[in-house]
Amino acid sequence: MKKEKYLVTSALPYANGDLHVGHIAGAYLPGDVFVKFLRLKGEEVLYFCGSDEHGAPISIKAEAEGKTPKQIVDYYHQRMEEDFAGLGIEFDNFSGTAREPHHKISQKFFLNLLEKGYIATQESEQYYCAKCQRFLADRYVEGVCPHCGAEGARGDQCDACGKLMDSVGLLQPACKICGATPEIRSTKHWMFDLPAFVPRLQEWLGSRKDWKENILRFILGLVEEGLKKRAVTRDIDWGVPVPLEGAEGKVLYVWFDAPIGYISSSIEYFAKTDNPDGWKDFWKNPDTKLIHFIGKDNNIFHAIFWPAMLMGQDEGYILPHDIPANEFLNLEGNKLSTSKNWAIWVRDFLAEFDGELLRYYIARIAPEHKDADFAWKDFQAKVNGELANILGNLANRVFSFAQKNFAGKILCPAQLDEKAEAVLKEAQEIAQQMDKNYLRYQLRRNAELGMNIARLGNKYFDETSPWKSVKSDKSLAEQSLFVCSELLRIFSIVFTPILPRSCGKLRQMMSLSGEFSWQDLHQKREEYVFVGVKPLFPRIDDEKIQAQIEKLQNASQVVKNEKPAVPEFKKATTFDNFLAMDLRVGKVLSCEPVPKSKKLLKFEIDLGAEKRQILSGISAHYAPSKLIGKSVVVLANLPTRKMMGYESQGMILAAEDGNGELSVLLADKLIGSGSTIS
Ligand code: 2FM
Ligand code: ZN
Repeated sequence: MKKEKYLVTSALPYANGDLHVGHIAGAYLPGDVFVKFLRLKGEEVLYFCGSDEHGAPISIKAEAEGKTPKQIVDYYHQRMEEDFAGLGIEFDNFSGTAREPHHKISQKFFLNLLEKGYIATQESEQYYCAKCQRFLADRYVEGVCPHCGAEGARGDQCDACGKLMDSVGLLQPACKICGATPEIRSTKHWMFDLPAFVPRLQEWLGSRKDWKENILRFILGLVEEGLKKRAVTRDIDWGVPVPLEGAEGKVLYVWFDAPIGYISSSIEYFAKTDNPDGWKDFWKNPDTKLIHFIGKDNNIFHAIFWPAMLMGQDEGYILPHDIPANEFLNLEGNKLSTSKNWAIWVRDFLAEFDGELLRYYIARIAPEHKDADFAWKDFQAKVNGELANILGNLANRVFSFAQKNFAGKILCPAQLDEKAEAVLKEAQEIAQQMDKNYLRYQLRRNAELGMNIARLGNKYFDETSPWKSVKSDKSLAEQSLFVCSELLRIFSIVFTPILPRSCGKLRQMMSLSGEFSWQDLHQKREEYVFVGVKPLFPRIDDEKIQAQIEKLQNASQVVKNEKPAVPEFKKATTFDNFLAMDLRVGKVLSCEPVPKSKKLLKFEIDLGAEKRQILSGISAHYAPSKLIGKSVVVLANLPTRKMMGYESQGMILAAEDGNGELSVLLADKLIGSGSTIS
């Protein structure tokens, strides 16, 4: 069968910060899963990426940190490579756009368009900050979006509605560096004649019938509204220099050179082979399927700007075959925000958990057609409830049983009974469905479907009860185990794109080869030999998850900013009022919930000279056992009150932050019960 030829890319991440889970869900995991699937199918595929090292995002970061842009990009490039490796995301090449060959080909793209009349100079209006004495390109200026009214829109694009901005189109613009209102000045720029490409873009987009609805409709709408010429040069000093006399101090717009990074990464890859021109056999070969994985905020650039750049070259470059754009990943119900540190950074995740767990969870909730939400508790539920309890459980049952009763070796029965055949057929049907889904980038559906194979195994294991049949008819028990082993083997193939390392481990434990292909699905094994039983997925306990939730909340300003603040300060009191309060250290002797109360805990507190019963409405925040033995702060001379039929002889003091978080005040050192507090 003729192999298909694929050229796959994932958006080049800006080298101005670390990768977070939103990046992974948008452009990287979907791309990597697709490529791993194609490789399993035996297709010819290359996968390229690199860091996006130019533009305002980089120079703003460098200025903020007192470093050179080069220092910034080198630092983050390296860290991104490490993070990708930790997640098993494997590119054939991961380049960077500050490299010389990239500059060269970007300049060539520019000059080509200039020569063909698609780029021409024009005096254009730009924001200029008189205080900083500079033109404010792109992210150097922020304001209100004139299209959707969102705040925080940038000079070139609004993240909220995804639309591009006219060069001086923002409402209430402000300089990102000093906050001043910029003036508008005229400067010379090279403009790319997008309107000239409208008919060709329409024709091409019209032929992209199987693109995701969300992107196609949006893009076609924009092209129909009419495109405007856009400046492809900028007045900043970090970027690809405009290769013309009289253009000193100007560089190419980052969105002009960034997508060319896909080509320069390919060139860099082939330069290291014995076929340095091999990149052309992909980029200029109409049989190649060029697929760009991106987050939806990048879609205009990939579906309008970049194809127009390729068309305008007139050098036989292919156009994107598909642009799977993903929606956004939110975090615990809030929009991910790097500036507010409302994010889970890949390296922090990897310091605590296996990267495979992130692959699974993101695949499981992938924001393919609508935004999705990363929630730590849900992550825990899916890891424990699915990876550990369904897949891990099946593997564990089969392995232990085979080792205990069959010395770890299970043979294929001469004949399988009807039920066994039916179960295996069902698994094959799931695999067939997954085959189609992978080609349509449907990670989410496939993560669910694949797990159904393991579910099927557990159900079959229960129904055939080999622990019973082994006593009467060993061959029946062996058949059960063989079928379950087949299911695990099928799982290890169809799930490899999502969980490559775990499937590798599973295969190793079953003595299956590390070299395999999708076609092997249909090759029933003669025998299975199980070596060693290790739990594939240890369960994650509540404390570990709670620690992550707290870490997120402590590190972020989102909760602090978006929830009501602590109440205003009270009016002045007197010193005497203060002295009138009898504050004591009290040791918690016992603590238990109050029957029928949702809030109250009942404490017995040792105040030195006497013991008190005190009720406190904190059961949402503390398990009763948590405070036993601790020394708390007690207001001892409050009049006795009755609550839910119990007397409360004082009050335990606690801090509240106005966001529903509560912490009981504890003595910092061992100090006697009854000690006074002042
Ligand atoms: O949004 C971003 O992170 C951009 N750096 C993506 C660039 S994609 C490509 F064109 F290089
Ligand atoms: Zn907007």
